Amino acid sequence: MSNYHIKNLEEYFQVYRKSVRNPENFWEEIAEEHFLWRKRWDNVLSWNFSKPEVKWFEGAKLNITENCIDRHLTTRGDKTAILFEPNNPDEEAQAISYKELHKRVNKFANVLKSKGIKKGDRVCIYLPMIPELAISLLACARIGAIHSVVFAGFSSTALATRINDSECKMVITSDGSFRGSKTIDLKSIVDEALVDCPTISDVLVVKRINSEVLMKEGRDVWIEPLLAAASDECNAEVMDAEDPLFILYTSGSTGKPKGMLHTTAGYMVYTAYTFKNVFQYKENDVYWCTADIGWITGHSYIVYGPLANGATTVMFEGVPSYPDYGRFWQIVEKHKINQFYTAPTAIRALAKEGLAHVEPHNLSSLKILGTVGEPINEEAWHWYDDNIGKRKSPIVDTWWQTETGGIMITPIPFSTPTKPTYATLPFPGIQPVLMDTEGEVVKGNQVEGKLCIQFPWPSMARTIWGNHERYKDTYFSAFENKYFTGDGALRDEVGYYRITGRVDDVIIVSGHNLGTAPIEDAINEHPAVAESAIVGFPHDIKGNALYGYVILKDTGESRNHDNLRKEINQIITEQVGPIAKLDKIQFTQGLPKTRSGKIMRRILRKIASKDISNLGDTSTLLNPEVVQGIIDEAM
Ligand code: PRX
Repeated sequence: MSNYHIKNLEEYFQVYRKSVRNPENFWEEIAEEHFLWRKRWDNVLSWNFSKPEVKWFEGAKLNITENCIDRHLTTRGDKTAILFEPNNPDEEAQAISYKELHKRVNKFANVLKSKGIKKGDRVCIYLPMIPELAISLLACARIGAIHSVVFAGFSSTALATRINDSECKMVITSDGSFRGSKTIDLKSIVDEALVDCPTISDVLVVKRINSEVLMKEGRDVWIEPLLAAASDECNAEVMDAEDPLFILYTSGSTGKPKGMLHTTAGYMVYTAYTFKNVFQYKENDVYWCTADIGWITGHSYIVYGPLANGATTVMFEGVPSYPDYGRFWQIVEKHKINQFYTAPTAIRALAKEGLAHVEPHNLSSLKILGTVGEPINEEAWHWYDDNIGKRKSPIVDTWWQTETGGIMITPIPFSTPTKPTYATLPFPGIQPVLMDTEGEVVKGNQVEGKLCIQFPWPSMARTIWGNHERYKDTYFSAFENKYFTGDGALRDEVGYYRITGRVDDVIIVSGHNLGTAPIEDAINEHPAVAESAIVGFPHDIKGNALYGYVILKDTGESRNHDNLRKEINQIITEQVGPIAKLDKIQFTQGLPKTRSGKIMRRILRKIASKDISNLGDTSTLLNPEVVQGIIDEAM
């Protein structure tokens, strides 16, 4: 019998030991007992991190939607699968049962087929948080198409780059989206993007805001009449364990976004097993993850993990501040939420607004609280614990990444004693190590290093779409035979891990991973700009905000700096999206560079944080004289 559901600390250690001593056997038992397979695997795991190549459950055949939907129909057909809470609190919530989800996914899948979408084709999904978003993911998976969801806050340029990188055939979008008191015209963003996307032949448009939109003849169609006419039966495509399930883009420190490719069986097994344990889901619980499905958190812990467990998962269309800062707590009360999973940036923003928004609401249904996406600071952790969990709901600080597919380091609630700012212990099957600058494993406790994982786990990304070399270089080259996460971490006296943040040029703003390169590229497109460099600096709510150092071209003319700042942020909004706007822009004469021409961001980071007491070694700089000038301008 597998220990599918861990109930106490002793059991955790027992399960963990088993998962490390005999990983194949451990995962095999879980896979065997808790999922529906069309054919059993021939081999549990084969791997080679130097290639790198990882295969889980090779030879097995399955369809993830049969696991997430069909197999629940007899026992949970009338149970709510997806509970949709609209942006506007006066609009009625929608409870979609497993039976109804089955029909809607099948209809959607049949519409995709009627448009010629086949197994292996890429479909780009650019939708707001409405039920059709979850349904379209599942519809793709039903027929073996590879979904590539692009967060609907990204700009047309960012959308086009992602569509072209994976050569999508179709875009699924809506006429628009509701976000708080605003509406966003999604369809026209898609239209702008598609000017440069030769591989797209069809656009399916969901009606959400009832706005007038341009429909391009022969390319764009409203989906509602097609769904109405489609059959609600659609046989699931039988997939190989290692067939691709989806691509999801994440920012790197350089270059274009990386299309992380996740495959079918391992992803399913791992997201389901982590969901069950990290949230201790019980049959009648109502679970809510506030993330957007445009991010990995939504893929794994709004859609696939919960549905694979037959859970009720809430999808919220709106924002935490609309109609007021009590919205999250009003929803918790209304739907009697038992597990609530959000990001530190949201907690900080809500804490700042005060308890007047929390106190009117009955939060007694809550059993478990979660956080993800960035380090949670101690103050926010305590605010969450005291005021939301009332010190009775454990906080699971879950560390993981788009690349890891599922939660990697986390407390198991009611088993692992929590500790503020610590993600605590590795999940069963996960073997973290800390590495020093010499490339050696750092042994013992009370140590710090770069966080790596030294053994494969089922839901790890298998490659970067179209660029396996980059996958190898980014994740498997820094340390031999290890997956490098890009994060730093420390291990305390009892072996708990605390993630200290990125050690590369990725900056996490409000939980969103932003690479410096695409933002700098956007700034440099401004005709007045000669060069630029972006760094992060601490921000009370966002965790980090962006600080831009900009060198203007020397044209002899004087320029209005305030206007330039606005124009630069406008370009960033267009090219990357509003999340990448700079909080501060400093016009400067030079940037500190190494002799090989690399910008020394360490110095710029210190100046942006107003921490200039010790700038470290500047002797390797090509132009040490610029540093004082930058400091003088900044202070
Ligand atoms: O730096 C870590 C941070 O977020 C990065 C991954 O970002 P992304 O791929 O967008 O996935 C976010 C949602 C899984 C990590 O490399 N991060 C994520 N969770 C935590 C965290 N940092 C500290 N504590 C966490 N719990």
